[in-house]
Amino acid sequence: MKQVLTKSSEETRELARQFACSLKRGDCVALVGSLGAGKTEFTRGIADVFNCAEQLTSPTFTILNIYDGERSGERFSIHHFDWYRLDSPEELYNIGFEEYLYGDGVSIIEWADKFPDLVPKTAKRVELIRSSETERLITFEQTFPLR
Ligand SMILES: Nc1ncnc2c1ncn2[C@@H]1O[C@H](COP(=O)(O)OP(=O)(O)OP(=O)(O)O)[C@@H](O)[C@H]1O
Ligand SMILES: [Mg+2]
Repeated sequence: MKQVLTKSSEETRELARQFACSLKRGDCVALVGSLGAGKTEFTRGIADVFNCAEQLTSPTFTILNIYDGERSGERFSIHHFDWYRLDSPEELYNIGFEEYLYGDGVSIIEWADKFPDLVPKTAKRVELIRSSETERLITFEQTFPLR
């Protein structure tokens, strides 16, 4: 386990960039944390590394956004889920979410703890807690190499 206290959204994005360097094909990042905790900021840092941040939107009204990513000349499909508005997993089954989560792209799930049973067992869980207006305590379940 690793914990970092970030003091700005830029620090959160930078931490996410460092984390994203270690992501591999098929990885899933399960983001957990309340409204405004910084899940989308963290996702933005990941998207920076995959050079698709300009495609990113806060997918509050869509369950899934797909971005064309690229890292070190390799193309990656980035699947950005937001489960906040889902009342039941039915919609996820309707869009065939498993194909995305278990494919060769990289998936990120905001509000992953809404349907814990649907999160891949191998997902990297990242929890964000708002400790003040500008500070977030970010906990990684697994360690990752820091530059
Ligand atoms: N240290 C910090 N890290 C991340 N965001 C921060 C930090 N300090 C302040 N903020 C602000 O907090 C907000 C985080 O918003 P963000 O959309 O990333 O949250 P979220 O967890 O995705 O919320 P939602 O559940 O609504 O999707 C932004 O306005 C950002 O500028
Ligand atoms: Mg968000």
